[in-house]
Amino acid sequence: MARTKYVAGNWKMNMDKAGAVALAQGLVESLKGLNAKYMIAPPFVYLDAVSQVVKGSNIILGAQNMTVTDNGAHTGAISWAMLKDLGVETVILGHSERRDEFNESDKLINEKVHKALDNGLDVVLCIGELYSQRVAGVTNQICENQVKEGFAGVKEDQLSHISIAYEPVWAIGTGKTATPAEAQEVHAFVRNVIKGLYSQKAADEIKILYGGSMNDGNAEELLAQPDIDGGLIGGASLKVDKFTTICKFASK
Ligand code: PGA
Repeated sequence: MARTKYVAGNWKMNMDKAGAVALAQGLVESLKGLNAKYMIAPPFVYLDAVSQVVKGSNIILGAQNMTVTDNGAHTGAISWAMLKDLGVETVILGHSERRDEFNESDKLINEKVHKALDNGLDVVLCIGELYSQRVAGVTNQICENQVKEGFAGVKEDQLSHISIAYEPVWAIGTGKTATPAEAQEVHAFVRNVIKGLYSQKAADEIKILYGGSMNDGNAEELLAQPDIDGGLIGGASLKVDKFTTICKFASK
């Protein structure tokens, strides 16, 4: 069964407002007519401006994070309702930078997954091992735990709203990419974890994206692997031409 590929741009904490609008405008033009699934996640403060630009295009608006509570005295936090109000349809959860810099636990991430799904937001759930864990040979174990904890309580009929991004932490922003074979091996393993948790059908249908220094030079080979269903792109999502090239490989 062919899964439609999914390419998502995680802009992280980059650009100013004019740059964000220009990048979004460039992508609306360059991705016109392409037939995979595309998402961009600008910084919160530019969501409103970018939302106006991507409205009516084939680009989904995403957010890089979301708080777990609904509203109230939570200084600096952004709720699911605020995101939806701006046209956000998808939220990236469990990114390794959130796990590391903001001490987000699997439990908190799971609570956020439920909060998003229960309130009509789709989720890209990030998992991945540290370099020390890869060297220690526990990559699969780490990824299995993160999937099990991230998906805890998620029902099979909610799975069409959640994708997984396998992002080996040592490959993020470092220029070091997992080889296509290394990535494929983990993707196949993770798909099997989903089969164990749910069913063969769920495993066949879930999208598992690769992230970690994916760029216009290595995307074609990565995306050609049978269990790599797309990419979560950081650095290379900040340039119209690079991101477009990756999106075109995904549209083949
Ligand atoms: P990178 O980031 O492409 O810059 O490595 C990927 C990510 O963190 O999502």
